[in-house]
Amino acid sequence: MLRPVQELDARALAEAFQRNRTHLAPWEPIRPETFYTVHGQREVITRQRGELAAGTALPMVLARGSSIVGLLTLSSIVRGAFQNAHLGYWIDQAQQGSGVMTAAVAAAADIAKAVLNLHRLEAATLVHNTASQRVLEKNGFESYGTARGYLRIAGQWQDHRLFQRIL
Ligand SMILES: CC(C)(COP(=O)(O)OP(=O)(O)OC[C@H]1O[C@@H](n2cnc3c(N)ncnc32)[C@H](O)[C@@H]1OP(=O)(O)O)[C@@H](O)C(=O)NCCC(=O)NCCS
Repeated sequence: MLRPVQELDARALAEAFQRNRTHLAPWEPIRPETFYTVHGQREVITRQRGELAAGTALPMVLARGSSIVGLLTLSSIVRGAFQNAHLGYWIDQAQQGSGVMTAAVAAAADIAKAVLNLHRLEAATLVHNTASQRVLEKNGFESYGTARGYLRIAGQWQDHRLFQRIL
């Protein structure tokens, strides 16, 4: 189930990040140790719920029973002439390769268009993240360039491929 993150998710989220620490390490910023604790996740959720209330983000989890097996976030929502959001996601190592994230991104794009009235989604992947690029391509995203030293991932400022989908 894809649904907005809730305060009660802190424990399941901490467990998910602990379980997937090695899996996510090449694709994410280096996190402080507190990030992997229930208390740390409570702080993250409080910030995210604030962004949700302000209309600047839609942070969602992929839940399977009482476990959280992935995240999908529409962030940096800008209105006015842009009507744009940034898309980010990851899935539990054990759930990879079953088409789940492809389906989740399709659902998120539907929500972005029909509920949030957005015009465009953007996403950025490391140049060697072929699995993520496939998820975007299968969902109608087009690559529009490469940005040098774009995000600090795994401790290094790394080049990224930029993608967009006009909704
Ligand atoms: C990227 C990620 C979200 C994909 O989730 P998923 O649920 O496994 O994705 P799907 O099963 O829907 O689709 C994956 C596609 O990538 C392909 N793929 C997987 N690994 C691949 C690889 N090493 N090289 C090329 N293609 C690959 C799959 O074959 C599939 O394409 P297909 O349907 O044409 O066969 C998941 O691997 C993940 O969480 N990775 C770590 C975090 C991450 O990279 N997040 C995104 C940052 S931009």
